[in-house]
Amino acid sequence: MNISDTPFPHIIIDDYFSDEELELIMREFNFLLPKFGDPSSYGGAENDDGTYLSDSTGLSLDDVYNNRNVSDILSISSKRLFTLPFWESIAKDHEFWEQVLRSDSDHTKIRKYAPGEDYLSHQDCWVNVLVSWTLQEDTGGGGDLYFEQHDLYIKSKTNRCVMFPGWVKHMVTPVVETDRFALTKFVHCATKMTGTGD
Ligand SMILES: [Fe+2]
Repeated sequence: MNISDTPFPHIIIDDYFSDEELELIMREFNFLLPKFGDPSSYGGAENDDGTYLSDSTGLSLDDVYNNRNVSDILSISSKRLFTLPFWESIAKDHEFWEQVLRSDSDHTKIRKYAPGEDYLSHQDCWVNVLVSWTLQEDTGGGGDLYFEQHDLYIKSKTNRCVMFPGWVKHMVTPVVETDRFALTKFVHCATKMTGTGD
């Protein structure tokens, strides 16, 4: 695990899911794959003129399930991500990550980036912590996270998890040869939070 405060707070965790967890996640992902739609169907980020910043296909899982427990992807990713002692321990030394403890809502999307597909640079200003997992990516290349204002690349790699503030400008570089399967969780505040002192 790599926790860094520069050039902005971010965490990289490799081999995030166990083999069993990843198998269950990919089973559901592949089942849903034929239902994937364009960015208008999963609420993709838009340009000022209303065109979409990505040509990847995907699904917003919160639109698919009324009961999150039915979904292995939602259950496993949330169970693993929102482990309280983990965040309490990290937040002691890295203040930004209190954002996870102070957030009270999350949304989850799954996406497929076929060769040539990307996600142009944008900010998700409503997102405190953006969690991006690459579930499957062979050796084709591309599909990396790039933070243009900091000239920082984080390579896409199967079973790698990257967390960063949604308001840092980010993009996904064009996938080169083989599909990239991704899972993204947007962690934010749906209600006004008062913090610990009020
Ligand atoms: Fe984004």
